[in-house]
Amino acid sequence: MQLLDGKKLSQKLELQVTNDVKTLKDKCGCTPGLAVVLVGQDPASAAYVNMKKKACDRVGFYSITHDMPENISQEAIEKTIKMLNNDTNVDGILIQLPLPAHIDETKLLELVAPEKDVDGFHPFNVGRLTTGLDGFVPCTPLGVMKLLAEYDIDVKGKNCVVVGASNIVGKPMASLLLNADATVEICHIFTDDLKKHTLAADMIFVGVGVINLIKEDMVKDGAVIVDIGINRADNGKLVGDVDFKAVSEKCSYITPVPGGVGPMTIAMLLANTLKAAKLNAQERA
Ligand code: GUN
Repeated sequence: MQLLDGKKLSQKLELQVTNDVKTLKDKCGCTPGLAVVLVGQDPASAAYVNMKKKACDRVGFYSITHDMPENISQEAIEKTIKMLNNDTNVDGILIQLPLPAHIDETKLLELVAPEKDVDGFHPFNVGRLTTGLDGFVPCTPLGVMKLLAEYDIDVKGKNCVVVGASNIVGKPMASLLLNADATVEICHIFTDDLKKHTLAADMIFVGVGVINLIKEDMVKDGAVIVDIGINRADNGKLVGDVDFKAVSEKCSYITPVPGGVGPMTIAMLLANTLKAAKLNAQERA
């Protein structure tokens, strides 16, 4: 079994982004900028936003967080997004999810200018991904594809089972795999007999937030395991959705949690923001 080391790859990619930022600054005097909209007090969201901000600082981006109270109105968030759409210092806009129940998430995501949609959640970019066109791709599944490529793991013709059908992870993960010529199945909470599906898989991609969902008897020998879950175990440790110890004895490759997909998500946010900055600089030239 070999570990898919997302931490190591993300550090290498950060270095590349840092160099690209310097080149971009020399060429056009532009600094890539990311604006994050954070609503409410969810501790996990606050921790993620903090990690994203620190990563921006490390690579030399400009970043700003719009911290909004839980009870803020839909209109006030919309006003902020419109302002960010028109701010030339801002190349990327990220609305941290989940949002409070009284907020219309779809309406906000659709309000973000598609050329600043570094999370790839706008239906314009979702459509481009499913059609196989260039656009912004959600950071977590994009990071998974980069990690597989780094280890020369080709998905072409492989039986890939994606467990979880969210708009953030499962659906874009399936689109990327399909675009790369994999045979793709999406399993979800209503799937009957999950084990039947995972046992037949050459590769399993799981991100549902259930500790030990994928057990050793659900995995075939030599499978590739990508654990996209992040859960807090009773002992306070971060764990994924896979029973790591038992499954790692059976599979060919596996992502650790932490240190697998998580750091890749942040690296892809940086890459997407840099891509937006380059496109926006070209637009303005
Ligand atoms: N909440 C959980 N994952 C994500 C993500 O990748 N982007 C945003 N904006 N919110 C999230």
